[in-house]
Amino acid sequence: MSDHNADSNTESNTEDNTEINTEINTEINADRIEPDWLALREPADAAARDRSWPALRPAIAAWLTPRLAGGDGPLHVVDAGAGTGANARWLAPRLTALASGHPLRWTLLDHDDRLLAHVPPGLTARRVCGDLADLPGLLRRSESPEPESVSGPGTRATFVTASALLDLLTADQLDRFVDDALAADAALLVALTIGPTWRLEPLDGPDARLSDRLDAAFHEHQGRGRALGHRAIDRLVDRHPRALRADSPWQLNAADPADAALIDRFLTERAAAAVAARPELRDPARSWLERRRADLRRGRLTVRLEHTDVWLSPQ
Ligand SMILES: C[S@@+](CC[C@H](N)C(=O)[O-])C[C@H]1O[C@@H](n2cnc3c(N)ncnc32)[C@H](O)[C@@H]1O
Repeated sequence: MSDHNADSNTESNTEDNTEINTEINTEINADRIEPDWLALREPADAAARDRSWPALRPAIAAWLTPRLAGGDGPLHVVDAGAGTGANARWLAPRLTALASGHPLRWTLLDHDDRLLAHVPPGLTARRVCGDLADLPGLLRRSESPEPESVSGPGTRATFVTASALLDLLTADQLDRFVDDALAADAALLVALTIGPTWRLEPLDGPDARLSDRLDAAFHEHQGRGRALGHRAIDRLVDRHPRALRADSPWQLNAADPADAALIDRFLTERAAAAVAARPELRDPARSWLERRRADLRRGRLTVRLEHTDVWLSPQ
């Protein structure tokens, strides 16, 4: 359920006459992630992960240190659902700092080769277009077709990571993904799984209630596919109570132009998903979006969206 501030004042009319497009496109395809969306969210994701890293870093270091001791083999990192490589861009320097001289070998796995094609050349990684179900093959050391670029005999440790992925998975996919990693003695760092709550300010009483209706319709839309959405983390932690979790919220402020663009896209897509589930909300959603955009233009809208990061090592 949404968590809104109902005290703030919201004007119902825009102050300027700028034409804004609040047409809501309900052709939502949750399976199709666009590269420009990933580019838009990358700075906010990085800032969010900077918030959770201090809580996770000691446990990751404690797992890595003994495994990397006594040899100079690489640390193999598989980024599952890698998209355009944002997770690797954020994580590589931090893991390098923890890996005390051991090289990192990256494999980027994604079922969408359009996105893998957008990985910038600066990121040295093997790209594999495939499903999460291909993970065991990528982690199986002895059958590695390219021992120098995947887990070969000299690999000191294997690490599976993912960001902004778990909420897209079904329960079966999630369970299998985690089980496959642990069965291969790989640790898991899964970042930026969406939480159930978000807070938008300012929002007045009627708009706060409308936001709750839109939110309920949004979750209804998410639930139509079999994706777990915000329930993914609870499922993972219920099955693996030793998992370490840390909050990685987006904290967006319309005064920052990069945040403003992200907020606009985020709110538009939320509204569209809500209307796709509840077509009768089209008109109220359109005017709700107009009022949020008026706030955006004035640089006075803030959004806090909960995410959770999880670290889980094999027992
Ligand atoms: C929201 S994007 C996140 C991309 C990237 N990790 C990031 O943080 O920018 C989710 C990614 O997971 C990929 N994905 C979703 N389900 C998948 C599956 N079953 N197998 C492989 N990739 C999958 C999508 O193609 C997409 O690139």
